[in-house]
Amino acid sequence: MGAADVTAVPAVRLTGVSKAFGGKNVLSGLDLEVPVGTSLVVLGKSGVGKSVLLKHVIGLLKPDSGRVEVGGVDIWSVSARERDQIRRRFGMSFQEGALFDSMTVGENISFPLRRHTRMSVAQVRDRVAECLELVRLPGIEAKGPSELSGGMRRRVGFARAIALKPEILLFDEPTTGLDPINTDALVRVIQKLRESLRPTAITITHDLKVAFQVADRVALLEAGRIRIDLPPADFEASDDPRVVAFVQGDSAMDEETAPLEVSG
Ligand SMILES: Nc1ncnc2c1ncn2[C@@H]1O[C@H](COP(=O)(O)OP(=O)(O)OP(=O)(O)O)[C@@H](O)[C@H]1O
Ligand SMILES: [Mg+2]
Repeated sequence: MGAADVTAVPAVRLTGVSKAFGGKNVLSGLDLEVPVGTSLVVLGKSGVGKSVLLKHVIGLLKPDSGRVEVGGVDIWSVSARERDQIRRRFGMSFQEGALFDSMTVGENISFPLRRHTRMSVAQVRDRVAECLELVRLPGIEAKGPSELSGGMRRRVGFARAIALKPEILLFDEPTTGLDPINTDALVRVIQKLRESLRPTAITITHDLKVAFQVADRVALLEAGRIRIDLPPADFEASDDPRVVAFVQGDSAMDEETAPLEVSG
């Protein structure tokens, strides 16, 4: 956005990344560059490999070939210990929320702080409160996850993801399964997080409205590669057949438009 601010090293860069499962190519020579501070949204049909892409970015999956760089460092050329350090620069909210049901909200959010820092009890308590305020759920530390609605659980998951003040946020389908009111609330939380933390962010979604609300850039993942990567207004106005097909498929999502699974 704005003037050409040429920051030398992108936050995340994938070069020629390929990954197959059981002989089926999911990523096929994928290239992607995310400049520091950019909010990238990746769209794509169900099963196309969006979660797989995100897991490559954070080093939970290793590419069959190609490079994954975080802040200019090839994460598979360093030791496991260094890779672990690099992972701590990320905050990830997983597609399935993944709160610990046996812990309170406060314990869930403080988990990474207690595990990875030497913060005092008071510092941890303050940071947890701050994170809950950022996701607009102040004061619910003592509640259990089972007492919360689906939308609130997602927001607590966000609070946990930002506890260590990550430089890079990864959101996998943050609004899927939520009603429009909770979706709007969550979008506002993402926008607020971006304003207050100014992180680099990669959000996976198949909700076009959400995409246009949180993105500086919108990319389309199709057949193993990033095919389109444009500012939201240009993406929306694009007459590229792949964009048109995706947008139409999204508005008429049913079995007839679902992609055929080709195996072998
Ligand atoms: N660990 C794994 N082992 C084997 N196959 C996998 C694994 N992870 C993903 N896959 C396969 O890779 C393909 C892409 O999966 P992925 O979860 O990335 O899709 P997606 O785009 O995130 O879909 P959705 O929109 O439904 O979340 C699927 O065919 C899936 O079955
Ligand atoms: Mg997924």
